[in-house]
Amino acid sequence: MNTIRDLDLQGKRVLVRVDFNVPMDAEKNISDDIRIRMALPTINYILEQGAKLILCSHMGRPKGERLMEFSLGPVAAHLATILKRDVQLAPDCIGEESEALVEAMQAGDVVMLENLRFHQEETENNGTFAEQIARMADVYVNDAFAVSHRAHASVVGVPACVAEKAAGKLLQTEMDFFHKVMDAPVRPLVALVGGAKVSSKLGALKNMLEKVDVMIIGGAMANTFLKSQGVDMGASKIEDDLLDSALEFVKEAKGKGVKLYLPVDFVVADRFAGDAVVKNVTYRDVPEGWMALDIGPASTIFFQEAMADARTIVWNGPMGAFEMDAFARGTMAMCQAVASSHALSITGGGDSNAAVKKSGEAANISYMSTGGGAFLTLMEGKTLPGVEILKE
Ligand code: 3PG
Repeated sequence: MNTIRDLDLQGKRVLVRVDFNVPMDAEKNISDDIRIRMALPTINYILEQGAKLILCSHMGRPKGERLMEFSLGPVAAHLATILKRDVQLAPDCIGEESEALVEAMQAGDVVMLENLRFHQEETENNGTFAEQIARMADVYVNDAFAVSHRAHASVVGVPACVAEKAAGKLLQTEMDFFHKVMDAPVRPLVALVGGAKVSSKLGALKNMLEKVDVMIIGGAMANTFLKSQGVDMGASKIEDDLLDSALEFVKEAKGKGVKLYLPVDFVVADRFAGDAVVKNVTYRDVPEGWMALDIGPASTIFFQEAMADARTIVWNGPMGAFEMDAFARGTMAMCQAVASSHALSITGGGDSNAAVKKSGEAANISYMSTGGGAFLTLMEGKTLPGVEILKE
């Protein structure tokens, strides 16, 4: 796979697929610009080479409609402020006007194409749509790790039409980091997995079982594992259709010699609300009608100890409903435990990264991936279509 350093970019129209799908508040202010900042090494390198830089991205899921609340306008303005140079927003990602704008570019100019998902052809990976984008480019660069698990037009269709293509620096860093922790980890390798649903992570959990020495499961998904062991979880969220799979998984972990840790106590609430009545109970004492919304203090110590000797930690998913302060303590404690560990640590997924940010420990995590679904796809042991196409 080429990297941008392998290509001569001078004077060329370099189309970079970025993932600037960033969160915005009600006033359309970007509330977290990390995905933009992480693409800066690629952007700056391309500009230093004297190229014409064309950026393309999706924003949200407008489902083929031109809905201006999903415009990349605020992102282009924000990037212009960071780069201290003009970033022209094209009216669309295809069409005569956008092509004319690109045609008129000089070396060092930056154009951002409007939201790719204003056309449903993007998610359908339509060939004609891909060709229309591709004809604006001499070189294609993928720096959008976070969307590289999607076989969309801008991710696989466009690079198939452009002869010169390469991975950007962010994509390269993400892939290198992931392979370092998963394929050649310094052991013990510990996986800390949480979040709401077993169903969305069962593939990742199974694949991780082949690789890790220790697996810690928290968050609402732990409820299903505990119920499969006969624990009464009250009104906690359970995926009843996955009880057999959960039971099987626990057996498999045992068979493989993986140390599996599940919560031993919880913060339970009488309803799912920040001002609910809460109490700490052991796993044996979840009251009828109450729900587990965070791991309890004993589980926190138990999990911290399980991580104490780790040399590598992979973390995906929070330990509870941390967005409500009453249920944030377990997740915050895990942030501190991972941050203060001497292990190489990698986190992925919007929730885990938001939790790390909330804890103020971001600087002490070895690497925070920009990917959610893409990170999980790699955890499942699958390849990313956006990366595979660059190897062709
Ligand atoms: C993400 O935020 O995970 C990526 O931008 C992909 O977005 P999508 O899930 O809407 O494809």
